[in-house]
Amino acid sequence: MELFKTYKLWDIEPVKAKGCKIWDKNGVEYTDLYGGHAVISIGHCHPVYCDMLTKQLNNIGFYSNAVQNSLQVELAKNLGEMSGYDNYSLFLCNSGAESNENAIKLASFQTGRAKLLVCSKSFHGRTSGAVAATDNPSIRAPFNQTDKVVFTPMNDIDALQTALKTKEYAAFLIEGIQGVAGIIEPTADFLKAAEKACAETGTLLILDEVQSGYGRTGKFFAHQHAGIKADIITTAKGMGNGFPIGGVLISDKINASYGMLGTTFGGNHLACTAALAVLKVVKEEGLIENAANIGKILMDNLKGNKAIKDLRGTGLMIGIEVTPEFETLRDTLLHQYHFFTGGAGRNVIRLLPPLSISQNEAESFLEAFKKATL
Ligand SMILES: Cc1ncc(COP(=O)(O)O)c(C=O)c1O
Repeated sequence: MELFKTYKLWDIEPVKAKGCKIWDKNGVEYTDLYGGHAVISIGHCHPVYCDMLTKQLNNIGFYSNAVQNSLQVELAKNLGEMSGYDNYSLFLCNSGAESNENAIKLASFQTGRAKLLVCSKSFHGRTSGAVAATDNPSIRAPFNQTDKVVFTPMNDIDALQTALKTKEYAAFLIEGIQGVAGIIEPTADFLKAAEKACAETGTLLILDEVQSGYGRTGKFFAHQHAGIKADIITTAKGMGNGFPIGGVLISDKINASYGMLGTTFGGNHLACTAALAVLKVVKEEGLIENAANIGKILMDNLKGNKAIKDLRGTGLMIGIEVTPEFETLRDTLLHQYHFFTGGAGRNVIRLLPPLSISQNEAESFLEAFKKATL
């Protein structure tokens, strides 16, 4: 059997990683400013993470949600405390798309409404509801076409209020910062208006923090920069530092009932242990503060480079939109200077490094960026 060819792959095979470094099978060293798509939060192969997972695996790796699992309870408690959402409940699943899928379903159950309002250029995942809520018709199969999802322009408060006034929508779903779109930030005013309009119209506000959450922007969740609260928050990527896990944080407005949501693998022992290790390291090593500090160093020093048409983002979620002459810059950074970065479209380089990135590593990237754009 061959692999189904759905990914465009770099011709690089990593075989070892530590912190922000990756080594390929030929022994070439790379610095990881991509984190496997914002997934590596505490750095590759962190000793606390490896130790906790190894010990857990030697005790019990998996059992389904038919039994007590105190690791889930501990995770909910720690996540509540660290995120400031301690009076919310947690539903555990396995990925970002699945988190959104469950959030949409919950909002619809709660309100009895069938429609969903989403921002233009959004990306919420590839499963049925999540892909319908993603503003990219090329990844939506005919089965996923629906008139239940309506797109509204980012940062257009009037359009948002007009749509919500119809009281047809179960929820307004928005990314804390749009990632796949190329790092597009909602303004604080837009998020505040969304919080207010949702409350006034009985619509639930769902914040997709799958990419922008877990401390990446210098606050636990990106929407917290705007001083708002969401009714439902979805997480995944950085939550498990590579171990698949997703979470839905749910306001106490929404009551649970048996059988309402469910999953076989969600919240298993290994996934919870990975997530507990992440929270422990994020807290003990001050990684949220580090994300804010290093993000600022990167932004301040990238500013003014002639290759940059626009520079966007907060903390360690940075989008560098390059001018047309520098469309191959991402490849140059990878092959010549050995830095992994993310992309968005043809001309946006996305920096999504581990939150543990050091000042030295950031400075070596800045130096390479300067040389590559001379
Ligand atoms: C904002 C956002 N939501 C959802 C997803 C989907 O997550 P997953 O690939 O884990 O299903 C992604 C993935 O890139 C994302 O960036």
